[in-house]
Amino acid sequence: MTRSAPESHNATYLLGSSTAEHRRLLAQGDLLRDVARQLLNRLPLPDQARAIDVGCGPLGILDLLSDKVGPHGTVVGLDSDEQMVTWARQSITRLRLANVTTTLGTLSGDGEPAYDLTHCRLLLINSPDPEAIVTSMAAATRPGGWIAVQEYDWATWHCDPPHPAWGTLKTLLASAFGGDVHIGARLPSLLRDAGGCQDVHTTAHTFYWRAVDPYQRLLLHFASLFGERLHARGIGPHTLATLTRELGDHLARPTTIVRESLLVQAWGRKP
Ligand SMILES: C[S@@+](CC[C@H](N)C(=O)[O-])C[C@H]1O[C@@H](n2cnc3c(N)ncnc32)[C@H](O)[C@@H]1O
Repeated sequence: MTRSAPESHNATYLLGSSTAEHRRLLAQGDLLRDVARQLLNRLPLPDQARAIDVGCGPLGILDLLSDKVGPHGTVVGLDSDEQMVTWARQSITRLRLANVTTTLGTLSGDGEPAYDLTHCRLLLINSPDPEAIVTSMAAATRPGGWIAVQEYDWATWHCDPPHPAWGTLKTLLASAFGGDVHIGARLPSLLRDAGGCQDVHTTAHTFYWRAVDPYQRLLLHFASLFGERLHARGIGPHTLATLTRELGDHLARPTTIVRESLLVQAWGRKP
């Protein structure tokens, strides 16, 4: 059901596995914890359910899934990056999640359907082939089981008052990002077409930030991570430095508000 990482395709995670990304993903998981719990509360699972978090990163929603399936159920955290799997194991030990194990690799899509719930969060947005991932998630799901996905759509990501550097950097980063930054908008049709799901539902959430919130500067964080890719697209170091300085000053003002990307949640049942 899973493929070992070295043979896998499309598994490079462009944001990397630095300790800063580790911290960022855990903090983001805390931010999204309540809405992830709300999503799981909508999904009826059988006793002794099996669930998988595909692209779990350093924790993903493994702790929530552990709670959801209970002591007689089991959860697998799957990730294609060895460092992420090591961190996921550390989280499992720290949180004493006795019913959770990890696997290094990707979903192969050619095994027996083994799971009552197949979930991913912020995996498809980083992937050049989200359809293939959703198809393999469907293949891994038992008939009558659920496929649930949570992905951002950058459409709502704005700052107010507007600033020209925001629009320029956001457009540049969208083109340099590994996947479709508007994938959240496509989740229902992805679940239906690539996942073959019925009974598809969708909801969405967003947040507002001020200068004191670290997420106020996320666009600038991405700009620094993607510096080389932006240079390769003809944005010289001087231009990038000017854009980031101007936007940094604007975002630091107490009156500047950032509205976050839309976190879209979609779930459907495999017939
Ligand atoms: C943005 S992180 C999200 C982590 C976690 N789901 C969360 O919400 O905190 C994406 C993760 O997916 C992993 N990944 C990327 N492509 C993958 C694939 N094809 N199969 C499994 N994991 C993958 C990366 O290594 C990374 O840990």
